[in-house]
Amino acid sequence: MEDFRKSVVYQIYPKSFYDTNGDGLGDLNGVTEKLDYIRELGADYIWLTPFFVSPQKDNGYDVEDYYNIDPRYGTMEDFDRLSAEAQKRGIKLMLDMVFNHTSSRNEWFQKALAGDERYKNYYIFRKGKENGDPPTNWESKFGGSAWEYVPQFDEYYLHLFDVSQPDLNWDNPEVREQVEAVVRFWMKKGVKGFRFDVVNLISKGSFEDDYEGDGRRFYTDGPNIHKYLQELNEKTFGADKGIVTVGEMSSTSMENCFRYASEDGKELSMVFSFHHLKVDFAGNEKWVLVPYDFQKLKKILFDWQFGMAEHHAWNAVFWCNHDQPRVVSRFGDEGKYWKQSAKMLGTVIHCLRGTPYVYQGEEIGMTNTDFTDISRYRDVESINYYRILQEKGLRPDDAFRIIQIHSRDNGRTPMQWTDGQNAGFTTAEPWIGVNANHTDVNAEAELADEDSIFRHYQKLIRLRKELDVIAYGDFAPLDQKNAQILAYRRSYEGHTLLVVNNFYGRPVTWTCPEELEGYSCILSNYPDSEVKKEMELRPFESVVLYR
Ligand code: GLC
Ligand code: CA
Repeated sequence: MEDFRKSVVYQIYPKSFYDTNGDGLGDLNGVTEKLDYIRELGADYIWLTPFFVSPQKDNGYDVEDYYNIDPRYGTMEDFDRLSAEAQKRGIKLMLDMVFNHTSSRNEWFQKALAGDERYKNYYIFRKGKENGDPPTNWESKFGGSAWEYVPQFDEYYLHLFDVSQPDLNWDNPEVREQVEAVVRFWMKKGVKGFRFDVVNLISKGSFEDDYEGDGRRFYTDGPNIHKYLQELNEKTFGADKGIVTVGEMSSTSMENCFRYASEDGKELSMVFSFHHLKVDFAGNEKWVLVPYDFQKLKKILFDWQFGMAEHHAWNAVFWCNHDQPRVVSRFGDEGKYWKQSAKMLGTVIHCLRGTPYVYQGEEIGMTNTDFTDISRYRDVESINYYRILQEKGLRPDDAFRIIQIHSRDNGRTPMQWTDGQNAGFTTAEPWIGVNANHTDVNAEAELADEDSIFRHYQKLIRLRKELDVIAYGDFAPLDQKNAQILAYRRSYEGHTLLVVNNFYGRPVTWTCPEELEGYSCILSNYPDSEVKKEMELRPFESVVLYR
């Protein structure tokens, strides 16, 4: 059995990774061409975000056909070649399964709209209220009502995301069978990993108005969620212990995650949760400008470390993905301490208990976009909210500032390979703008520098394989209330790791609560870190001590 506790996953957003046929869009062949780069980094898995046939309203998270590759990304032959070439290099593929909803262009939905009752029951159609309002007051996660009116039925369908992403009705056993068939199809093609998109939203509860929030409490971690995941497991990937699975858990609770990711293996191998990335929100409200709350960040990370371990459940640990701003811009420093802070943030994640995920470009310190005009944005969510914020009364430039900070496009600009034209991503006009800082921030420069962020990530990935304490150790916070330091201890079979990080651009003196005899410094982001009880930590300094 693959030990996913010792593994690291590299996430690729193919559209922005590497373009091989000069149409401005990254493609599967682009991933194949860059496999040696990923092997060099040391990742064990590549998670590919969806490349299935799709109208691309939500960049592939709106699936029209689960069995075929979107021609924009290539062909099934390209996929098979990618799979074979990855295998040669000891890299496994993890595919992204979007089963909470389909695209409205999916054949099932088209048949539903044509009035076929069998397919209407694949989705969630409901009558509106007597007063003409939608069935509930729930809001779509991309803004506006979660219900769309269909005149020919005088009914609404539910879409928790874009109007072009109707939610599937998992209470219909035939839907569950269809979904299982898709998973089995990709298993037969040799796929050894699956990421399940917003999978804790599939079991809807009661359809009631929400007077406290946007409706999420009625469909998140819903009544049959564990039953449906167990069934999916039993009928598909559960048969192959070599398959690794991760569920994306939207607004979930830790109690549910104990079960989703329990080591009994009945549901999934691990979970993504997002509470630690909402520390620059106001509650659940993302579209605001507030400084991030460092104490809260620590508390959430640490509570999850503890809680999941106590309940024998496994975390996915990460800062970045295609839905998040770049971490060096968010919790680090894009400017003077770019390199130090990017390395520090990498260390924090990779020494935790859980399987680390690296999102393309994170390993070279890519930053948020440099867009100064709304016309440069591509993401449906950003475009919707730019409008919604103004409808709520914000001035255009205030609305724009919020988009700049929180837009998902921050993570979607093209991978910066070189300092050349379009950062070496494409020879054509890229589908989304390249960050002008590619002249300094690029993979070529990172590979040439022995002291780069890339080299640091490489070491972190290697360390997880070499030291059992990282993969298997217990977790304990150190000096949790400290205003500037995030520090923790890992311990396993007589070995201990101390991970100490200064999260700020100013120095700090820190007295380590542990006796440091016998420890040596095995990793740092400064050339000359010392093992001392009284530590003088420099800006964003990060040290890993081992005994
Ligand atoms: C997940 C994906 C995101 C997508 C959404 C709807 O959150 O990561 O990119 O928009 O689900 O499928
Ligand atoms: Ca292309």
